[in-house]
Amino acid sequence: MAAFRMTECIRKTKNGIALTDEEIRSMVDGIVGKNGMEKIAEYQLAAWLMAVCFRGLTDHETAVLTMAMRDSGQTMSYPTLGTVVDKHSTGGVGDKTTLILAPIVAACGVPMPKMSGRGLGHTGGTIDKLESIPGLTTALEPERFLKLAEAVGCAVAMQTGNLAPADKKLYALRDVTETVTSIPLICASIMSKKLATGADCILLDVKVGSGAFMKTDEDAAELARLMLAAASADGKKCTAILTDMDRPLGYCIGNALEVEEAVRVLRGEEKGALSELCVTLAAELLMMAGKGSLEECHDMAEQAIASGAALDKFRAMVSGQGGDASIADDLTKLPQPECSRVLYAEKDGWIAAMESEEIGRACVTLGAGRMTMEDTIDPAAGIRLHVQLGDAVKSGDPLLTMYAQSEQKLDDAVQKLNGTIVISEERIAPNPLVHAKYSNA
Ligand code: URA
Repeated sequence: MAAFRMTECIRKTKNGIALTDEEIRSMVDGIVGKNGMEKIAEYQLAAWLMAVCFRGLTDHETAVLTMAMRDSGQTMSYPTLGTVVDKHSTGGVGDKTTLILAPIVAACGVPMPKMSGRGLGHTGGTIDKLESIPGLTTALEPERFLKLAEAVGCAVAMQTGNLAPADKKLYALRDVTETVTSIPLICASIMSKKLATGADCILLDVKVGSGAFMKTDEDAAELARLMLAAASADGKKCTAILTDMDRPLGYCIGNALEVEEAVRVLRGEEKGALSELCVTLAAELLMMAGKGSLEECHDMAEQAIASGAALDKFRAMVSGQGGDASIADDLTKLPQPECSRVLYAEKDGWIAAMESEEIGRACVTLGAGRMTMEDTIDPAAGIRLHVQLGDAVKSGDPLLTMYAQSEQKLDDAVQKLNGTIVISEERIAPNPLVHAKYSNA
């Protein structure tokens, strides 16, 4: 085998020449310094990442890179659990689906042990949301995680540093070199972690719209195609659903607020877009796990909410992770904010647009999110929307309530929220929640 030279990889990618499988595997070994490879300098990796942004990778290179990144650290398996499912969302505003979906699927007899991450920038993270529940920990040792998945059927743990460590390194570099948006790199990043976590069936919720990484259906479809190909290369069943992120998902954005909304959906009290999406996603997962036709699985998921079985699973998961499960019966036990302020409609009309990315950024200003991984977050901060796309409003109607620990934070967020909720004189029909679906089965 020829000696590995990173400069050669940069030259080839820069000139649109495909790397060999061996070069890609050696490069990933060099990212984490394993299999006898010396660590590759960050400036060389950064140059290669930029070359990928301009020239792309072939489908084959993307699949080989994904597998090599999967194998860069620990990989998991669940021999005692039978068919295990997993879901990944590409990141959005107000996306609390995991908190609802995992208990629904577990209540239907399909285990969903899930590794999740923290929020960064304008998008939230499931770990931060769950940790707003008093006492709850997501730092679960593998043994405790597995035991909980066996006993309850669902558990959500913080992703360990040893899962796809090559992605950790590359992601940090992409973040500071403006190379996050390359579709093959996003595919390899997401799928290396998903494949390392070892589920048999994977559902990808690819968000598309103003609040998402993918701004157009074309880009989202391309990302879905690449991710399905990577799943196929690893012998996993995979479905990708393109869902609308031209609006925040549901009414609440912010950690404790989103837990509250998730509980309301699980109680069957909230029936809008969020609940619909969770039932749709649950039906797909149950069908992939062999529980019946899509229609049967849809009914099963609805029944899990109506019977209270999904809420029971949520309680069991929370207490299994050391949290106070009584929050499911008394939502005032969740962290409460110091201050709040309502913003009102300034004219009559219909809600025509909601800039979800800007609304997400306003939530960061309020304290609900972080701009760097070192920032601390305020679990009670965030925004409660009082309207959804397409709703009729009158001048003076409340549009949203902001929550924070200080009046200053509310003042700062008001600036960011200016013009983010657009009222038109005619009703504009909102996009459908589900734009498209692709499957490798
Ligand atoms: N989420 C990831 O894990 N990686 C990306 O590159 C983008 C979103």
